[in-house]
Order: sequence, then structure tokens, then C-alpha cells
Amino acid sequence: MPGDKSISHRAAMIAALANGTSGISNFSTSQDCAATLCCLEQLGVSVVHNSDGVMVQGAGTRGLSAPKEPLDCGNSGTTMRLLAGVLVGQDFEATLTGDESLRSRPMQRIIEPLEMMGAQILSNDGRPPLTIRGRNSLRPIDYELPVASAQVKSAILLAGLSAGGQTKVVEQTPTRDHTERMLRWFGVAVEQEDAPRDHNFASVNGPATFDARDVEVPGDISSAAYFIAAAALLEGSLLEIVNVGLNPGRIAFLSVVESLGLTINWEGQREECNEPVGVVRVEGSHAAKESADTPWTIDGDRIVGLIDELPLLAVIGSQLDGGIEIRDARELRVKESDRVAATVAGLRAMGADVEEFDDGLRVGGRTRLRGARIDSRGDHRIAMSFAVAGLLAEGVTQIEDAECVSVSFPEFFELLESVVEK
Ligand code: S3P
Repeated sequence: MPGDKSISHRAAMIAALANGTSGISNFSTSQDCAATLCCLEQLGVSVVHNSDGVMVQGAGTRGLSAPKEPLDCGNSGTTMRLLAGVLVGQDFEATLTGDESLRSRPMQRIIEPLEMMGAQILSNDGRPPLTIRGRNSLRPIDYELPVASAQVKSAILLAGLSAGGQTKVVEQTPTRDHTERMLRWFGVAVEQEDAPRDHNFASVNGPATFDARDVEVPGDISSAAYFIAAAALLEGSLLEIVNVGLNPGRIAFLSVVESLGLTINWEGQREECNEPVGVVRVEGSHAAKESADTPWTIDGDRIVGLIDELPLLAVIGSQLDGGIEIRDARELRVKESDRVAATVAGLRAMGADVEEFDDGLRVGGRTRLRGARIDSRGDHRIAMSFAVAGLLAEGVTQIEDAECVSVSFPEFFELLESVVEK
């Protein structure tokens, strides 16, 4: 798999704040991470691409320079939210903008804590563009996240690098901890506790300075998920995915696939830049062995760890005897598209019986999907989920705007063709 998108964003931004040059190999090929690199270049960071990945010449925690133009984050929420955390600690004004989808996404969740730290942020009623008036010395805060979001947590921790004292983020449900791990890799002390509800926290002490380090980015487990689902559901498949990231905050999908009775195993083999890396093996069976009349339910605290895989799980659900019900997933409506609506529409077009809720959906039991024309809404995860549905379906599935897969995974269709037997 190409390099993990979430980890690549963090590696690039943290390398940009380090002193010295960091080599980042297996850097994500995604458009989202390319947007992060372009924004960093506009902030005066030198980025050199080589066959292995990128070299980032860090400017130090206070060394970025004012951009001449607004910074275009493209489709990438992670770029915008994390960079906002970086920019509040810089003594200049900068504007972050993006494409139509990104300009409709909620940003109040970062504006509130970053303003508490002393920055001024102008927005379009809580949405981008964001004009950030930063300052070199921020106030540390102790902040409990109202929405479970690794992006918000990361924005605050990155801002905390420029605060005078300890900045602490408390979360009710633990979210992916790539920022904490990457900061530690660069030598920044991060305190972290994954404890029972209400006591999960991560904190940094500012002002911090740190040196460059080389990074090897593990393969992207969220990109692997589409291959895993396809292989698990297509009889006779045998697929092994190597060098893939197995961060505990990202592998809930593997556990669900296993619980459904599908044939999967995975094994951590080593650590790369504080991230567990290993192998996943999947074998195809006719369909899930799990046989039940009631839908398989995913809700509550389990949503956070599966957030990017929920449309794919809905597709898998159409192959389970009892179907699947996904609740407490309102966040899914404010991703790159309204993923609840897009998934419901796509599965209905393919003949599945689907009920839509404010906070999720229910897909009725095992359905022989029919090929259909699917509107991806320009959302990479919708396009890839329905490519998997298309493999399971009878007849041709046509995905509109399918090139949007490049947002996270430009190689997707080529790689899929290379492993699917015709
Ligand atoms: C991400 C966090 C998640 C996820 C997104 C990437 C990250 O978003 O959906 O694809 O890299 O931190 P939220 O933090 O908004 O839940």
C-alpha cells in the first residue's frame, strides 16, 4: 500500500517545524498530502521530491514565513485543521481555503480552542476560508473535546508547541494518536493516557524546539480496507498485504471483519517511527459465516475507530444475513460528502433495502447487488466503497467522478485491476 495519509500529513508538518532536514520515505501519494506539501512550500519550507519520498527542510517551530497567497488545502480537512494549529503559533496572518466540499465543512471545532489559546480566526460563519492571525506566544489550555476528532486534537497539540506551558486535550473516546507518536519520534515529550472514559488525554509542553528526523511511513490501512473487504467477500481470494500500518486506533475494521466470521488475520511485526507495522492476510469465503436475523450493529464509542470505513461496512452489510445497522454516526454527514446520504443512495441504486436515519443507516440482509450507475459525489471513500460493491454485483457498475480516488489513493484502480482475476 502507498504510505498512510494521516501519518504523512503529520510527518510533513512536524518535519517543517523541526530544525534541519528530514527525509520522509513512502510518503503518501494522495492529493491531500500533496496539498499539505504545497501549503508548507508557500510558508517558506523547502520540499524536494525524490524516488523514495520527500525531503523537508524544517524552519523551526517559529520559522515559517507569511504566505503571499491564500493556502489552498484542496479537499483535505486534515491539511486545513492541522495547519490551522501550526499557523496560530506563527507571528503573521494567513488564509486557509479549499475546494467546494472543504469550504462547506465545520471549522468551529478548531476555531474555539485555538482562539482560547490567543489566536484570532476569521471564518465564514464557522466554515472556511479561515484567516488566522497567529502569535508567537500562545496560552496553554486544558481542553475537553466536544466532538471526538483526531484532527481537532492534533490542531490543539500542534498549537501547544508554541504555548508557554502544558497544553492538554482530554477526549471521551480515544481517537487515532498519530500526532502524539510522530511528535515523540521527533523528540518532543508527549504525555498520553488511554484510560477509561473521560480520562484519555494527551499533552505537550511548550514552547518546544526539536531536530529533524527521517521517517518511514507505513502503508495505509484505510486504503487497504477496500482490498481486504473485496478479498474477504470474493470466494477463492487469497490476499496478503505487507508493511501496512497497524496503529490500534486504525484497526477496528480488521476486528469487525474477523467478528463477522470472515477469514482474516493480522500480525504486528515491527515499529516504524513509533507506529506498529505488519501484515494482513485475507481469504475469500462465499459470504460472512455469521448468520443472524438481526442486523450487525455498530454504534456508540465504536464509531470513532471505524469512521472512514463506515461506507465500506455498509457495503459489506449488504452481504450479511441480518444486514447491518450503523448509528451514532452523524459525523459521517460532514465528511468530504454527506456519506450517509451517498451510501444510502448508492446501495439503493444497486438493489439493497436501506433505511436512512439522521445518525446512520440500516442495510437489509443479504442482497444480490445489481450493477448500477453510482454518484460518488466526488468523495474518494464513496467511489472506492462502490468499486468493491461493483465487484460483488451482477452486471456493470459505473462510478461517476471515479478519478476522485486520487484524493487518498491515486493507484486504486490500477492496483485493483492487478489483483482481480478477470
Ligand atoms: C483523520 C481523522 C478523521 C478521519 C480523517 C483523517 C486524521 O477525521 O475521518 O479521514 O488524519 O486525523 P476527524 O478527526 O474529523 O474525525
